[in-house]
Amino acid sequence: MEKKNIDWSNLDFGYIETDKRYVSTWKDGAWDEGRLIGDSMITMSECACVLQYAQTIFEGIKAYETVDGRIVTFRPDLNAERFASSAERMEMPVFPRDRFVDSIKKVVKANAAYVPPYGTGATLYVRPYMFGINPVIGVKPATEFQYRVFTTPVGPYFKGGAKPITIRVSDFDRAAPHGTGHIKAGLNYAMSLHAIVDAHNQGYDENMYLDPQTRTKVEETGGANFLFVTKDNKIVTPKSNSILPSVTRRSLMHVAEHYLGLEVEEREVYLDEVKDFAECGLCGTAAVISPVGKVVDHGKEICFPSGMEEMGPTITKLRETLTGIQMGTIEAPDGWIVEI
Ligand code: PLP
Ligand code: COI
Repeated sequence: MEKKNIDWSNLDFGYIETDKRYVSTWKDGAWDEGRLIGDSMITMSECACVLQYAQTIFEGIKAYETVDGRIVTFRPDLNAERFASSAERMEMPVFPRDRFVDSIKKVVKANAAYVPPYGTGATLYVRPYMFGINPVIGVKPATEFQYRVFTTPVGPYFKGGAKPITIRVSDFDRAAPHGTGHIKAGLNYAMSLHAIVDAHNQGYDENMYLDPQTRTKVEETGGANFLFVTKDNKIVTPKSNSILPSVTRRSLMHVAEHYLGLEVEEREVYLDEVKDFAECGLCGTAAVISPVGKVVDHGKEICFPSGMEEMGPTITKLRETLTGIQMGTIEAPDGWIVEI
């Protein structure tokens, strides 16, 4: 199969329309059989629930070309499970988990010409999502839904790829106590839009959100979980019920423990102790693991010893091992790699 003529190595994290997308509709209490379509536009009522009350959820997954030319995805069963939790919390019907995985395979296969070649650093980002589509004016859930999946080839989420970024401690919250921070609902990202624009205007790459109840503990950023490395090389990640349970973070914790022989710990992390860590990274499907060089807390700079020039040694090893597993150069744990 011939690849599209795209400058793969210079892609940023943006949207490029690809040939096919998947759509299935929930109506009268059941999902239809679903199909691949060519049209990327969606027509809906001006009063659609998603437009008025933001009833929408999504997932993010990547497809990779491996060193031996296969196309694979990474742990889509975990995204299927999280998508089901998001649907339940948002009063939406669950899209069956096996059909979720199957729809991803179908869309990636139909857009195989857009899967970036091995070694270019780019990947095919897969975006499953679901929204309430029928007109709703009183505040209540929709009764008709669309589940869709599209793909887009992407480069690094943060400009500069592996170069350390600077983040600030945000005065805005992305989640509420007992709210929806733990699911992947569009509304969480709407909450973060002002904060990210403001951060960029002030010269920061991202926000570090604190726990919304006490504002003393580290939660996550707008699109990734935190991993910290202690000075004695232990991996620490914040525990909170208002952060998104990142597939990448859970996978990196496994890699740290079982591939690199490191001690790992998921626990509450206080802002006050961030200054004591040796390295800091942001992990997610889009972010992979991106190094943080500096955190600015209201003018006070917390500079990690790994510095602003390159990724620290442990984050580098974690990144190389994870991407090696994803690209087929390092043996994966059972079930992690799903061939298209
Ligand atoms: N946290 C937030 C808020 C996210 O949007 C994402 C992205 O999906 C993550 C964390 C990372 O999760 P994952 O590794 O499953 O992509
Ligand atoms: C992802 O990593 O897949 C995300 O959803 C993060 C961001 C693009 C919102």
